[in-house]
Amino acid sequence: MAGADWTDERPMSPHIQVWKWHATMAASIFHRVTGAALYFGSFLIALWIVALGARPAGGGEAPALYSTIEAILASIPGQVILVLWAAAVLFHWANGIRYLVWSGPRVGFDPKTASGVSVFNFVFAILGALAIWAAATFI
Ligand code: HEM
Repeated sequence: MAGADWTDERPMSPHIQVWKWHATMAASIFHRVTGAALYFGSFLIALWIVALGARPAGGGEAPALYSTIEAILASIPGQVILVLWAAAVLFHWANGIRYLVWSGPRVGFDPKTASGVSVFNFVFAILGALAIWAAATFI
């Protein structure tokens, strides 16, 4: 649209490919990405809970559905999915609180604070997910 025949003098919002990446922008994009990931991850967790509840009353052998899901989650791709899902939960939670602070008390908008909190949220999510994985694996 912005060719030689472009007559509108109002400033145009730059396309995402020419926008300089910064922490706040990345956090905004990843809030949406992790929101979608949590949506699908919730189905996986629900499936795991249903399989857990499928165990026959009074004990007995674990049902085939539960054994299958347990084997998938214990495999390397399953472990990678669980670590990524934990990172998504932690990031969306921390960044969600930041959004609520922006909407409620309306603080933290200055660029330095906004960037700092964005970086903190990424570091918190990555280290937190790795700590959960390490605790579940080695303790
Ligand atoms: C399984 C749990 C969750 C799912 C599936 C989920 C999913 C989503 C999705 C799909 C969006 C829309 C993102 C967008 O359109 O940009 C969203 C936005 C949001 N979520 Fe979550 N979310 C979950 C948990 C949480 C939690 C625990 C918090 C708070 C700590 C939270 C806070 C928010 C906020 C504040 C927004 C709006 C952000 C904005 O203003 O653009 N969410 N969530």
